[in-house]
Amino acid sequence: MAAPYPLRKLKSGLKLKLAKILMGDKATTPHFAWAGAGSSERLCARIEQSGHKNVLVVTDKPLRALGVVDRALEGFDRSVTTLHFYDGVEPDPTFGQVAEGAKVCRDSYCTAVLAVGGGSSIDAAKVIALEAVNEGDPMSWVGLNKAPATAVPIYAIPTTSGTGSEATMGAVITHEVDHSKQIISGLAVLPRAVAVDPDLMLGLPPAITAATGLDALTHGIEAYTSLWERGSRTETSLMAIQGVFKWLPKVLLEPGNVVAREGMALAAYYGGVAINQVNVGFVHAIAHQLGARYGIPHGMANALVLPHVLKAYGSAAEPKLAELARAIGLSNTTGAGFIDAVFELRELAGLPSQHAAIQARDIDAIVEAAIAEGDGYFSPRLFTPDEVKSILLAISVNA
Ligand SMILES: [Fe+2]
Repeated sequence: MAAPYPLRKLKSGLKLKLAKILMGDKATTPHFAWAGAGSSERLCARIEQSGHKNVLVVTDKPLRALGVVDRALEGFDRSVTTLHFYDGVEPDPTFGQVAEGAKVCRDSYCTAVLAVGGGSSIDAAKVIALEAVNEGDPMSWVGLNKAPATAVPIYAIPTTSGTGSEATMGAVITHEVDHSKQIISGLAVLPRAVAVDPDLMLGLPPAITAATGLDALTHGIEAYTSLWERGSRTETSLMAIQGVFKWLPKVLLEPGNVVAREGMALAAYYGGVAINQVNVGFVHAIAHQLGARYGIPHGMANALVLPHVLKAYGSAAEPKLAELARAIGLSNTTGAGFIDAVFELRELAGLPSQHAAIQARDIDAIVEAAIAEGDGYFSPRLFTPDEVKSILLAISVNA
C-alpha cells in the first residue's frame, strides 16, 4: 500500500534535492552523433578506425531477415573487422537474452558492441556490454546509477524513431519470472557514438512508426514538465515535441519520405537526450506496468496513458503545457489546448484510446506498482492511488 501523500511528497522533495547535489545541473556526458542518410556508414568506419577487430552486433532476427542489418553494416571492411552476431533479442528483452549475448561477446573476444535495431536491441546491447566484463548478478545493478563503471564500448544504430535509447545511459530489461521491468543505468552504458540514419527506417511499418512516435513525444513532454532543471533538457525536449508534431503526421502519410523520416528520427534522438538528463515521469510509471503485465507495446502504452496523465496533473503542469501549446503554434495557447492536440495526434496516428487487456482484478496491483515507480521520478506532482485508478479505468474496456 502506498504511504500517506504528505510523506511521499516529502520523500520526493528530498530525492530531488539529493539528485541536484549528486548530479548537479549540468548535462550528462555528450557523445558523438551522426545524422542523415548514409550516416551508419560513417559510424561503422569510425568503429573500425578505433581499432576494434571483433565487434558484436546485437539485433533481432526479423530485422536481419529484412536485410536492414546488412545495410546498416555496409561501412565495415570485413577484411579488417570480424563481425559476430547475437540476434536473439525479442521485444522487452530478458536477462536470459542478455546472458546469451554476453557469452557470445566473451567467447568471440569482442572489444565493441554495436546495437542495430529498436529500443529492445539497444537496451539489451547495453547490459550485454556490462555483463561481458563484470562478474555478479545483473539484478544487483538495478537502480539509478548502480551499473558497474566499466563496459565494453557501446555504439548504436537505431532503426525505429521512438525510444531514444541511443542517447541514454539507461536500459530496461524484463525479469523472466515476474515479468517486471528493471531499469539499469550508469554512464558506462551511454553509447559512445550513434548514427541516426533515416535510410534504415524507410520500411518501418505504420503501426510501429505511430507507437514509437508517441513514445518520443512522451519523452519530450515528461522531460519538459520535469521539476528538475538540468542541462539542456528544456531545449532538447522542445526539439523532440516540435519534431514529433511536425514530422509524425507527414511520415505516416508518406512513409518513404526520407526528410520526414530524418525529422522523426532526430525528434526521437532529442527526446532521448532530454530524458537522459531528468528521466521520465508518471506516464512511463503507469505504461511500464501495462507492458510488463499485458505485453502492451511500450509506445502504445504511453499513448494510452499520456493525455490522461497530463489532464490529471491539473494546475501543476498548466504553465508548462501552455508554453508547449505556443511552441507548436496552437491557436488555443492553454494547457488544455495542448492536451487536446495530444489527443488529436494520437487519433491521427491510429492508436487506440482504450485497451481490452486491462482487467479489473489487476487494477490495485497496477496502481501500487505505478506509484512505487512514479514516486522515483520528478513529475509535476505525485498522484494519489485513486487518481491512478481513474486513469486506468479511463483507458480500460473491461475494468
Ligand atoms: Fe519511453
